[in-house]
Amino acid sequence: MTDRIPLAGVIGSPIAHSRSPVMHMHWLATLGLAGHYIPMDVAQQDLERVLQTLPRMGFVGVNVTVPHKETVLQFADQVTDRAGLIGAANTLTFRAGGGIVADNTDGYGFIENLRRGAPNWDAAAGPAVVVGAGGASRAVVASLIEAGVPEIMVSNRTRIRAERLREDLGRRVRVVDWSQVRNVLGDAGLLVNTTSLGMTGNPPLRLSLDGLRPDAVVTDLVYAPLRTELLQVAEARGCVTVDGLGMLLYQGVPGFERWFGQRPTVDEATRRAVLG
Ligand code: ATR
Repeated sequence: MTDRIPLAGVIGSPIAHSRSPVMHMHWLATLGLAGHYIPMDVAQQDLERVLQTLPRMGFVGVNVTVPHKETVLQFADQVTDRAGLIGAANTLTFRAGGGIVADNTDGYGFIENLRRGAPNWDAAAGPAVVVGAGGASRAVVASLIEAGVPEIMVSNRTRIRAERLREDLGRRVRVVDWSQVRNVLGDAGLLVNTTSLGMTGNPPLRLSLDGLRPDAVVTDLVYAPLRTELLQVAEARGCVTVDGLGMLLYQGVPGFERWFGQRPTVDEATRRAVLG
């Protein structure tokens, strides 16, 4: 049997905007590895068949994006604890002997980006305020709990989603009404925007930061634009700010290492490649 070139990719719909292909191809080229990473537009009704077919075609794994992150769990043979807790997977690995392992590396990407961008941030030092309660928020909150943050205040426009998040992720989560976020900022060592507010084409997250401590860290999952209005206002207060691009880069690291056998480096060249 001839050695096949390992294939990986990303499945979602739409997929054309995804920056994952350029990132993984950049890592393959820099490390001099044989392999390919392919974007695939997959409709919901084709998902199961595609996941059965890809391993036979030489795929070693795929990333999963909107709208399949939750649905793929039902097709997995093994779901990691963190993917189960979050209720979504972004990284699938096809085992050599058959079977799909579903993992979620978004929280890893978030924490890694935060630690690199704000090395002085002390997880145990105080509560975090997380705006939003969607899939991304779940991954962020789970990673903050794992990192040892004593209390995580979650606020969402649709309160019931924040309440469900607390039910799933536990006692360290406190739900804060959408109209009350500004009033809980005073205690926070960390403020995170996990909503799509601030993304190009969307209105900004308009939140008064008057009560925020100047030594608090502010991070935004939005990376287009890189410097969101939230980060600009926080910076003007003297806060350390961390943009969202690094989370995208770091969440890709575990999958790449599993599939292609080497751990890639996230550096300025990776950022430039991904930003195009
Ligand atoms: P993701 O996987 O990126 O988290 P998602 O699960 O669709 O995507 O969640 C999107 C998040 O952005 C939610 O917290 C959503 O709030 P709702 O649950 O109330 O919809 C938030 N969001 C999106 N548009 C918003 C807006 N205009 N104002 C406030 N929150 C918004």
